[in-house]
Amino acid sequence: MKITGTTRLAGIIGWPVSHSRSPLLHGFWLDETGIDGAYLPLPVKPDHIEQALRALPVLGFQGCNLTVPHKQTALAVVDRVDPLARRIGAINTIVVTPDGSLGGTNTDAFGFRENLREAAPQWKPNAGPAVILGAGGAARAVIVALSDAGAAEIRMVNRTLKRAEAVAGDLATPQTRITIHSWEEVGAVQRQAGLLVNATSLGMVGEPPLILDLSLLPLSAPVVDIVYVPLETELLAAARRRGHPVVDGLGMLLHQGRPGFEAWFGESVQVTERLRTAMLATLAPVR
Ligand code: ATR
Repeated sequence: MKITGTTRLAGIIGWPVSHSRSPLLHGFWLDETGIDGAYLPLPVKPDHIEQALRALPVLGFQGCNLTVPHKQTALAVVDRVDPLARRIGAINTIVVTPDGSLGGTNTDAFGFRENLREAAPQWKPNAGPAVILGAGGAARAVIVALSDAGAAEIRMVNRTLKRAEAVAGDLATPQTRITIHSWEEVGAVQRQAGLLVNATSLGMVGEPPLILDLSLLPLSAPVVDIVYVPLETELLAAARRRGHPVVDGLGMLLHQGRPGFEAWFGESVQVTERLRTAMLATLAPVR
């Protein structure tokens, strides 16, 4: 990559940001497309987020991604938030418009949906209730994606029931019913389900594994894990042994980057096998 006087700039703002794979992802696409652009890691402390975001147009940035801990706070700073991001309650992508204002969106739901479409093309929203484990930011994006795809029933399992109630209150619609369940019910809620998604951090390297009895889940139901380190979680291994279609979390990470890249650098990009292989090489779990 060569930086010139006309290089278009974007980056990812987080604190810390050194763990983020987004510079590698966007760097791959920049190399592949040959665009005169650069995507930088931008470590910004929580107290400085407003200053940093307001500086983006001043410094000539096209926009940025946001990661922990800024996804919610940035929503209150930007000038416009699209309805999807407002429902999710967080933004992960900012686009600077020509008048210097900031538009915020959330591409996690898009990433989830595209990954599911690609890895489990046979899945249909009317296949049966979707079981979602978790009620954090990731679960909210998954629920919005499924609801917008036309899922009629979502069964949410979470340790903290109050949190799940708040999510259901925010995201249930006349078309999408959301029921709330404790972990004691995690076996029973799989009955007649059409999809199971782990949107908790369980199974991630350094976290407890997610060991589920999948015996009541219909074999046609895809099992999705949003965890991508390790790529093959215990949940996915168990689902594979039973013969379920399985969907790992790497594709969601890769697809969620596409809308930002397209907005900042003006070219559409794809998630190819070559990209997956390049990213996989950087994801070796440290155990
Ligand atoms: P993210 O933004 O990635 O979704 P988060 O908002 O911290 O992260 O949410 C993490 C999810 O994993 C939550 O659903 C959390 O359950 P609680 O709402 O009860 O905290 C779930 N989670 C994390 N560790 C867990 C554990 N040991 N057992 C059960 N659930 C866990």
